[in-house]
Amino acid sequence: MIRADFVLRHAGQLATMVATDDDPLGRISDGALAARDGLVVWVGADRALEGAVELDGDQLDAQGACVIPGLIDAHTHPVFAGDRADEFAERVAGVPYAAQQGAGRGIQRTVRATRAADEASLMQLVLRRADRFLGHGTTTIEAKTGYGLDLEGERKSLLILRDLAASSPLRIVPTFLGAHVVPEGVDRQDYLRQLSEEMLPAFRSLARFCDAWCDGPAFTSEETRLVLQRARSLGYEIRVHAAQLGPGDGPQIAADLQAASADHLEYATRAQVEALAGAGTVAVLCPSANFTVPDSRRPPIELMREAGLPMAIASDLNPGTSNSESLTFAMTVACVSWGMTPTEVVIGATRHAARSLRLQRAGSLAVGAFADCAVFELERPEDIPYYVGVNRVARTVIGGRLWASS
Ligand code: NIG
Ligand code: FE
Repeated sequence: MIRADFVLRHAGQLATMVATDDDPLGRISDGALAARDGLVVWVGADRALEGAVELDGDQLDAQGACVIPGLIDAHTHPVFAGDRADEFAERVAGVPYAAQQGAGRGIQRTVRATRAADEASLMQLVLRRADRFLGHGTTTIEAKTGYGLDLEGERKSLLILRDLAASSPLRIVPTFLGAHVVPEGVDRQDYLRQLSEEMLPAFRSLARFCDAWCDGPAFTSEETRLVLQRARSLGYEIRVHAAQLGPGDGPQIAADLQAASADHLEYATRAQVEALAGAGTVAVLCPSANFTVPDSRRPPIELMREAGLPMAIASDLNPGTSNSESLTFAMTVACVSWGMTPTEVVIGATRHAARSLRLQRAGSLAVGAFADCAVFELERPEDIPYYVGVNRVARTVIGGRLWASS
């Protein structure tokens, strides 16, 4: 008998996300799962559970609900203060997002608010965001800095992320995004020097990934390549905000550096998509950000499919383009606006997202994986994007424990 300290029973459909010949989602009807010390130790049909597992702990009856691995959000910017609702109103009235950057507006405005926030209030904001992620079925997030943009501000953001990981069950994968934009009032060359010589070496133990935004309002190809090469030489793994607002070399730089992810990719070309597929990089797509920037272009989904480039879906939570912790909303937009299939977005928010974060134990419910589950009040995993803008998550399980909102 296998000993367990948690079991989940009677999932109408339990998607293991371990593909079989006839089901890419590897589902089990009337499924059950057992966990010990936070990891899955058994998964199968409910009728076989009692003969295989000895339970000393909690039991959750899913009562026929649909169970999938906890969602994985591979692109978020959760450490910020203030809001930019007025910029949203301007954009829907026709002002382009790029025109909102600079002169104390856009990202610079959030930098000012985030620097001014004391640590306790910033922590409160971030904890509330963590609760909203968990409430929407997300159990792992990649979390970027990028609103400090100096040694002190970026350190403060990274320490907030470290404290968050200690105080919330949400799994946090920290990314240093000092190369978000050049902060106002600082000489460009001087900022690039600070990034390479001060911030990158100082933050190595606080961040797993380093990201840079390669696009019109942010960094040139040359600058992006230099910052990310330096990051890689220091041992960071690489992500790139690439070709979101216009064409550029960001996707090729990601491929050349064998980045874990290339994100946004609205303007990626066929050659770039093929290079990313060849490099083993994952495309992390941000449908909600695309949706609130009315002048956005649709990313080349067909080229990505053709090239076999894995597509992850992310919320891109941030105060400018996507003030949303809902990954299921992003999945809906990817289907409706871009023509991704419901199956693709379910895989994109679990398996491919985990791969982009290089997490072996997340994104599936195989033996040895984290016992992280989202329990949805619906019939099949493919129905998730069909429920538009409503939260159908009834329960979130993380590390073999039922999560309760604080
Ligand atoms: O992913 N592209 C750059 N960064 C964010 C937006 C940040 C902001 O507007 O505050 C994004 O869309
Ligand atoms: Fe982003």
